[in-house]
Amino acid sequence: MQIISNIEQMQQTILSLRAKGTTIGFVPTMGYLHEGHLTLLQQARKENDIVVLSVFVNPLQFGPNEDFDRYPRNIERDEELARTASVDYLFYPSVEEMYPTPLTTKVTVTARTEVLCGEKRPGHFDGVATVLLKLFNITMPHRAYFGMKDAQQVAVVQGLISDYNIPVTLIPVETVREEDGLAKSSRNVYLSESERKEAPHLYQSLQLAKQAVEEGERDPQAVKAIVTNYIITHTSGEIDYTEVYAYPQLTELERIKGTIIVAVAVKFAKARLIDNITFTI
Ligand code: PAJ
Repeated sequence: MQIISNIEQMQQTILSLRAKGTTIGFVPTMGYLHEGHLTLLQQARKENDIVVLSVFVNPLQFGPNEDFDRYPRNIERDEELARTASVDYLFYPSVEEMYPTPLTTKVTVTARTEVLCGEKRPGHFDGVATVLLKLFNITMPHRAYFGMKDAQQVAVVQGLISDYNIPVTLIPVETVREEDGLAKSSRNVYLSESERKEAPHLYQSLQLAKQAVEEGERDPQAVKAIVTNYIITHTSGEIDYTEVYAYPQLTELERIKGTIIVAVAVKFAKARLIDNITFTI
């Protein structure tokens, strides 16, 4: 595995690989790798000749009161895990390398951001879209892998790719969970012991919602109420949102029909956890 921190070196490397007809699979991350990330890497490994992993904690996608400074980082451990996952290139740029001078243009996401995390984290998806546009231009992948854990991110990035004709195929990957159902996340390390025990209830609440829909419930408000009540009863967390939308449009539904997302965000003392399920009825 080669570690590259320089943008031009990364581009030159990819250009010579592409010239030989090599296919490139790309997994963008903010590091502190866990099995969720490793599953994306495994799938990229299966479907491409070369796997590029990026580790970059992108300041642009964090709000002023969010956890950029204390976002967990451990590049040595990430390096080890990346080697084990047979990554070919680890792209690990500094903030100065990625943003040497203030940007002179702005990527603004204009759809699908007024809801869920976009509403709660203003500017977050603009930051995500900006860094991904740069990362796609730097790593020039044929396929890029994204987790459905961040289903809104998948929808927004698909929009970015289509709007700007970026020659990359987005591959969504199912959420990877702990045995008790908790979605794997770099932020789970912030949970206290008792919060960790409560956290699987997020997924349980989503499953209850799905079950209700399968049994005939078609009112989004009723489905939201099931999730909200379950979380209030079973956790000490503060609900940030409980939502039901059409997916991937992320538009309101009067009645449940087609493919939908049921999504929750819950704030614990030091971690805000998100989870969702998408399914078709
Ligand atoms: P990060 O939170 O590090 O996640 C990197 C990728 O791993 C994302 O596509 C995310 O959806 C996926 N992922 C995280 N937990 C997962 C899980 N439990 N199961 C499956 N996939 C999971 O998302 C970001 O970084 C950033 O916004 C980024 C795209 C890198 C842009 O900065």
